[in-house]
Formats: sequence, structure tokens, C-alpha cells
Amino acid sequence: MPRTDAWWRDAVIYQVYPRSFADSDGDGMGDLPGITGRLPHLRELGVDAVWLSPFYPSPQHDAGYDVADYRGVDPRFGDLGDADKLIAEAHQLGLKVIVDLVPNHTSDEHEWFRAALAAAPGSPERERYIFRDGRGADGSEPPNSWQSVFGGRAWERLPDGQWYLHLFDVSQPDLNWSNPEVRAEFLDVLRFWLGRGVDGFRVDVAHGLVKDGDLTDWTQPSVILGGLEPAGPPPPMWDQEGVHEIYRSWREVLDGYEGGRILVAEAWVQPAERLARYVRPDEMHQAFNFEYLDAAWSGPALRAVIDKNLAANDAVGATTTWVLSNHDVVRHATRLGYPVGTPRQHGIGAGDPQPDAALGLRRARAATLQMLGLPGSAYLYQGEELGLPEHTTMPDDVRQDPAWERSGHAERGRDGCRVPLPWEADAPSYGFGPTDASWLPQPAAWSEYALDRQQGVAGSTWELYHAALGLRRGHGLGAGALTWQDVPAGALAFRNGDVLVLTNFEAAPVALPAGARVLLSSEPLDDDGRVPVDVTVWAAL
Ligand code: GLC
Repeated sequence: MPRTDAWWRDAVIYQVYPRSFADSDGDGMGDLPGITGRLPHLRELGVDAVWLSPFYPSPQHDAGYDVADYRGVDPRFGDLGDADKLIAEAHQLGLKVIVDLVPNHTSDEHEWFRAALAAAPGSPERERYIFRDGRGADGSEPPNSWQSVFGGRAWERLPDGQWYLHLFDVSQPDLNWSNPEVRAEFLDVLRFWLGRGVDGFRVDVAHGLVKDGDLTDWTQPSVILGGLEPAGPPPPMWDQEGVHEIYRSWREVLDGYEGGRILVAEAWVQPAERLARYVRPDEMHQAFNFEYLDAAWSGPALRAVIDKNLAANDAVGATTTWVLSNHDVVRHATRLGYPVGTPRQHGIGAGDPQPDAALGLRRARAATLQMLGLPGSAYLYQGEELGLPEHTTMPDDVRQDPAWERSGHAERGRDGCRVPLPWEADAPSYGFGPTDASWLPQPAAWSEYALDRQQGVAGSTWELYHAALGLRRGHGLGAGALTWQDVPAGALAFRNGDVLVLTNFEAAPVALPAGARVLLSSEPLDDDGRVPVDVTVWAAL
């Protein structure tokens, strides 16, 4: 496979969630050797790169997005030698490796935060974070009205009376990005991992690092993981102008290394033009397109989102990315099993309305085939190639997402999409590890999703992904361009190079144009060769 510095422009990047991918030692928690052992599977599937969610030392109050040491590996996941082996093995297989960088906040167990707690108000140690005196006569009111993304107020008070800001969990204090020491530290962290050979960084909460200088009151809830911010002036904690110069300085560092090292923004920013500012030529390379993930299952809605995002990215010379699932949202095989127009859920519990699982999977396969037909780069989340649904009946007492407790049990949170993967139908923990142990329970029905029940089985979801990735590469779809085609209302079709990608959203079957030769279809066509409802077809023209 040819590799250039612009490898990322059309890449398919597979997200590995280390806790839940593969467990080599049987403790019920996935680990780096487990991932390394399964990399050949990803090569075979046909992706170009892996993105690893955080594996750094962490008390794991937010599943590793609370980092205590940016230059290490949590013993639960292995050690630095294991990280080096993983990177080397991936490269050997022709896979790029992207790691997660969490610059908005550290863990409260990071040495900087410990030092800040031990130091006095006004000290340089406290200047690395956002400490403030409280309001009210005795300072017992928080410095402002900001709410945590996970629920509750975004400030915590110390015994000495000062408060610190945490936009996420109380164990995730926000860093002070106006402090040059913080900036220098992260430049060094970038160099640390670049030197170990990583090909890029997924930048967590990329739109949050800089807060408006006055910490202006903002009473609305912070909704980043629940949906996109409504269009309008950005809230004082998100998408501030000052973030861009940080990414310009990071880009300079990355450009000093060979092989096309990239930055990917996790920025819940709207509208698309605003998001595209993160991928201007001297900033990041990509930004997740959450608007696509959030779009309703309808032709007009998807067409509008696709058009808007292609145009906004074209305007700055970037390619567009596409994504349907990740570790923060309800899996798309489940999301799409609810009536069209259902507002985005914040987790699903046994007492909630349950999805139509068959419909969800049918639509998910169609959605994926549409996504992989689009020009640009696509992100896959581990398990979606198995058609894995959300675990929607998980007992509440095993939930670990801090959002569950912090929201006062209003939000079930994200555990349901983080359940360890099934590899072998008849093995303990479905082959996740050598024992029965699994840090979140795997539903009994998961044997039917196991990889070994799908590989070589015609029509399985794994075979669909495998075939789609092969055809996508063969036809150069990632590097192509899109032209909309006229089709009956209720369907949506575009041409990308010599391939027609047609999705039917409505009951009436849709005929393919005369002479079109079917390459792949998310479900069988009807007896007259027409495309049934909730099916996507790729056809050669
Ligand atoms: C990002 C991560 C999410 C995490 C949050 C705080 O949104 O994707 O999992 O909880 O940042 O770091």
C-alpha cells in the first residue's frame, strides 16, 4: 500500500478502547499486549490506522481520560515497553498509530495537582490550574455558575477556601492554558510520543483549553457529550479564539517529524464553518464530524450535513471526516433502532424504551455503507464491524461512568458502548481474555456477534465491513469527489468516481439505473433487483 505524508486524507481509522478490546492476562481489563496480539485482525479487516483511547497512568475515574502521568503507561495496561512493541508491530503491519492526548485537564493525582493542593493560594503551583476565591461574603459561593459536563457544578472547594474549576469530573481539574509552563509541558509531551514513533494525536476536548478571561457566568448546562452546542456565540468555556494559536504551535512541532504526523480535534463545535477553523492549513489535520453522527436517519438531513461539511472543509483545504460511533455515544446499531427523530440518548437502561434491534442493525449497516462511500476519512469504533449493539440492560450497580452518579442518576452514561468485545462465541468472556473476567458484564446474546461466528459467513456484518473497506480502497473512494444523483424522493444517491452509492430510506423499493452493476449491498436486493428500505447499495456505473 503506498504511503505518503498525506496518508490521513482518505484513511479509515479504527478506534481501540484499550479497556475493552482484548485482555492478555485475564484480569478482566484489556491491555496493550492484548491489543498487539489482535492487530493482525485489524490489518485483515482493512483499516489504515488505529487510534488508542488513553492508556496512561490514571486512577481511572473517567476511564483514563483523567491522566496522572502523560509519559507513562498504566500498569493495568502494561508498560512503556509494551507501548513500543505495539507501535512497532502496527508499523510492521502497515498500520499507523494515533494516541489520545488529554490537555484540557489532568487527573487530581497528577503530580502538578498534588503540588497545587499542598501550596498556598496565589502560588506558582496553583497557577497551573484554575483556582479562584469564591463569591459571597465568606467566599462560600462558587466563583461562577458553570456546570460540569457530567452534571453538578464545575467548581470544588478546598479546605483553605479556594475553589478549582473542573469542567468534567471533580477528579479532572482544568489546566490553565494562559500559563506558559503548561504550554511548554505539552509541547514536550508531544515530542515524547512522536519520538516513540506515534503517527498522531487525537486531541481530547480540543475546543475547551482556553476559557474566556473573565470566566463569565453561564447558566446553561454544558452539553458537549450530549449534543452539539446550539449555533450562536460560543459559551465562555468552549471554542474561544485563543485555542487556535495553541494548535499552530503544536503543528510546528509535528511538521518537524517525518512521515505525516497528525492532529485530530475532538471539538463539539457548530456550525461546520466554525469547526473547519480547527483544520486550517497551519492547525490540525482533521476534526471529528459529529454533525454527521448526530444527523437524523433521513435523506434530506444527511444530504444537508454532507454538503455543509464538505463545503466548510473544502474552503480551508481539509478533507472531511465521517463518524457514526465512539466511546461517548450510544452505538449506531442501537441509536438507529429508535424512531427517527428520537433525541440523542445519554445512555440507556433496562427500564428505558428498548430499541428495535433488527431495525437498528439493518439501518446501521446501511449507514456504514453510506459513510464508507463518502470522500474523506472515516472513523470506526471497535465492535461496530461486528454489528455490536449498545448494552441497553446493564444493571445500574455496575455502571462506572462518572456521568451516572454526577447527574444524580438522570443520565445512565456511556458504559453501554464500552463493553468488552466478543471474539470467540464459545470461549470464556467470548474470547476477550483467557478468563471469565470482564470489567463490564457482556450480555448473554453476544456469542452471536463474536468474530468467529462472522468471519467467512456470507452476509455477516464483519464480511460487509471487510468487503466495503477493500472496495473503498480499490475504487479510491476516500480520495474521490461526490456528485449528487437524481433518484426518487425517499432515497439519496451520490456518485463517487465510478461508484454509485444509493440509500433508500422509505418503504417503496428503488430501482438502480440501467446498466448499474451491484458491487456490494447492505442487505439483499428484492426479487426485481430493487433497493429495499433501509438499505445502501454500491454499484459500478
Ligand atoms: C472527551 C472524551 C470523553 C471524556 C471527556 C473528558 O469528550 O471523549 O470520554 O470523558 O473528554 O476527558
